[in-house]
Amino acid sequence: MSEHKIELTVNGRHHRGTVEGRHTLGDWLRGQAGYTGVHIGCEHGVCGACTVMVDGRAVRSCLMLAVQADGCTVTTVEGLADPDGTLHPVQQALKDCHGLQCGFCTPGIVCTLAALTADGAQPGEEKLTAAMSGHICRCTGYQGIRRAIRQIAGTDTSAAQGAAHAEQGA
Ligand code: FES
Ligand code: FES
Repeated sequence: MSEHKIELTVNGRHHRGTVEGRHTLGDWLRGQAGYTGVHIGCEHGVCGACTVMVDGRAVRSCLMLAVQADGCTVTTVEGLADPDGTLHPVQQALKDCHGLQCGFCTPGIVCTLAALTADGAQPGEEKLTAAMSGHICRCTGYQGIRRAIRQIAGTDTSAAQGAAHAEQGA
């Protein structure tokens, strides 16, 4: 059994520790660092539930060893809302559009969409939808998630249509 010292930043907090070489980043985040928003499902890169952001990119934390994250900056779903509780726009869109039920898949989906829209990027509905091919949701039938994506991409016209109808009816 090999042991390695690691130092990394998670959600703005500095962590230092020792990990076994066989431990994944997901194991370490959940089991040792206490970031239980990281959900572990399939453990072989298929379901997407374990997705976090590593140096700004969406990464499946079941496929990355903890030792590989040495020196990295990691963001989990716990690190996305503002300190005052204001949700990240991706979280808000999923909430508004009923894009979650049991919530098991949700942290991974949030991290993938947050990575794609970071720093003011506007990837568009098609690209955001394509990214969902890496996530399995067993509850929603994906329709609420797709509505949330349209809200994030700015292609959801239902609110504007609703306002127009209200005006016509006035
Ligand atoms: S637990 Fe990592 S992709 Fe399923
Ligand atoms: S909300 Fe239950 S798996 Fe997606």
